Amino acid sequence: MCGVKCITFALWINILSVITEKNDFILELTPPKPVIHVGSDLELTCRVNACPGNVTFMWTVLLDNSHSGRSKDEQIVSRLLIRNITVKHSISVVCKATCEGKPRQRTSAIQVFSFPQDPVLPKIKSLIANQTQKLSCTLYNVFPLNRIQIEWLRGDKILHVDQHETFFDDHVQNYSFVFNYTPSVLDLGKNISCKATLNMPEIGLYKTRNSNAEYGPGTISISSNNPSVKLGEHLEITCHADGNPKPTILWWKEETEPAQNKSQNEKLIINNASWSQAGWYRCDASNPVGRKQMRVKVIVLGPPKIPKIQLSHRGDPKEGENITILCSSDEGAVKLTLYRQSQSAASGAVNEPAVLLNIPSVQITDEGIYICEAKNDFGIKSCTINITVEAQQHEVKMPDLPVAILPAVGSVSLLTIAGLLIQYFRKKARINSSNITLS
Ligand SMILES: *[C@@H]1O[C@H](CO)[C@@H](O)[C@H](O)[C@H]1NC(C)=O
Ligand SMILES: *[C@@H]1O[C@H](CO)[C@@H](O)[C@H](O)[C@H]1NC(C)=O
Ligand SMILES: *[C@@H]1O[C@H](CO)[C@@H](O)[C@H](O)[C@H]1NC(C)=O
Ligand SMILES: *[C@@H]1O[C@H](CO)[C@@H](O)[C@H](O)[C@H]1NC(C)=O
Ligand SMILES: *[C@@H]1O[C@H](CO)[C@@H](O)[C@H](O)[C@H]1NC(C)=O
Ligand SMILES: *[C@@H]1O[C@H](CO)[C@@H](O)[C@H](O)[C@H]1NC(C)=O
Ligand SMILES: *[C@@H]1O[C@H](CO)[C@@H](O)[C@H](O)[C@H]1NC(C)=O
Repeated sequence: MCGVKCITFALWINILSVITEKNDFILELTPPKPVIHVGSDLELTCRVNACPGNVTFMWTVLLDNSHSGRSKDEQIVSRLLIRNITVKHSISVVCKATCEGKPRQRTSAIQVFSFPQDPVLPKIKSLIANQTQKLSCTLYNVFPLNRIQIEWLRGDKILHVDQHETFFDDHVQNYSFVFNYTPSVLDLGKNISCKATLNMPEIGLYKTRNSNAEYGPGTISISSNNPSVKLGEHLEITCHADGNPKPTILWWKEETEPAQNKSQNEKLIINNASWSQAGWYRCDASNPVGRKQMRVKVIVLGPPKIPKIQLSHRGDPKEGENITILCSSDEGAVKLTLYRQSQSAASGAVNEPAVLLNIPSVQITDEGIYICEAKNDFGIKSCTINITVEAQQHEVKMPDLPVAILPAVGSVSLLTIAGLLIQYFRKKARINSSNITLS
């Protein structure tokens, strides 16, 4: 820093020592090469040994007064205290001591740096495989920036190195480094970090600082998409979500108020499955940055529940009336069959929520027990309805409807009717019409 002046001065000292008679006193300035962080305080000590007389000290700091510090002399020691070091203190400080008129001097070369905190990474909502995301890494109040290298890492693997230009460095500055990152599936959940290294080997300075990118869950998956468990058996479902920090996984049973936490070490475990454990579950993955959810329906397999049988009419139908018998179940995986006792069956396909029997003009001969049966691989359940038909009084004038009665006698069609179904069930159901003849 002091350049030509110092050189001339050093020369002058050498010449002096040659000219003057042998000089015994020793001058030490410590530390000779301080490496110091901006904002710290630095104390330089100048000490004279083996001086037979009085010593006088003088400090030379090539700075204006406000930066030069205070010195304190104690016979053979002088201390210079510089408070709150700034970048401007990257200079040489000279301590001159005179012992009985003989001068000596020592120089301390101060190296100032500033690397006060870890890189700052904004929180990332989520990382999705094959989607490019801008990641930024900011260094605050660093000096000298041209000696700082920034790397992006995944675990230990270097993803990208900052190639910044050589900056003109005479002040502490902020620096942001942006990296366009396209994670692969394997990267998700890993530590993505920004590492800054300040390396000044000539003064023995090497420091690194590291920060992990925090990101919310981006991808969530469940080990089984259509989980089912037999009554009394065991089911385990795992939920996985990436994110950093590692998301907390919680399983909730929906359709309960409030939803019940059902997780055991991130897994949904159903032991000794019962009917009440069937239904929708939700995996909730969250970390301080974000949250992601996924739902799954657990089916419990066992003998069907008792189905329902209903008549479209209130009370007993009258002869000639148009009636419909409905056989239904709110379970998914059953095959429904509706039939008249000791007669052939009308069946729906598996998974049809209902089967209908329509008798457009009911007759006394249609009376009897009708059976609605639900069947699956684990058993059969049924229910019945006893239909009695009220005879019409035959005084009623016939000529009006002679044709209507005749063709209907003895035969009814068995139909599944979309219109009625919609009335019973909101969801659309594909109904195959199946006809049988009752005789
Ligand atoms: C050293 O300093 C003291 C007091 O400051 C003085 O009395 C003494 O004469 C000085 N000695 C010499 C050799 O100059
Ligand atoms: C240190 O110096 C800086 C820059 O000159 C100033 O902003 C800061 O307030 C000083 N701190 C103290 C403790 O004096
Ligand atoms: C660095 O950023 C901080 C915070 O945003 C700001 O207060 C400061 O002035 C910035 N320093 C420089 C040198 O731009
Ligand atoms: C990610 O980094 C944190 C802290 O730096 C560490 O505790 C954690 O084990 C790392 N995780 C992985 C998957 O390496
Ligand atoms: C399974 O549950 C049923 C009904 O709740 C119970 O009767 C039975 O004892 C349970 N079995 C076991 C092994 O816990
Ligand atoms: C009987 O009623 C059902 C629905 O209630 C209707 O779809 C059907 O057309 C009716 N049949 C006759 C013959 O009126
Ligand atoms: C059906 O109901 C009728 C009239 O209520 C009754 O007489 C008949 O015994 C019942 N049939 C059965 C099988 O219960």
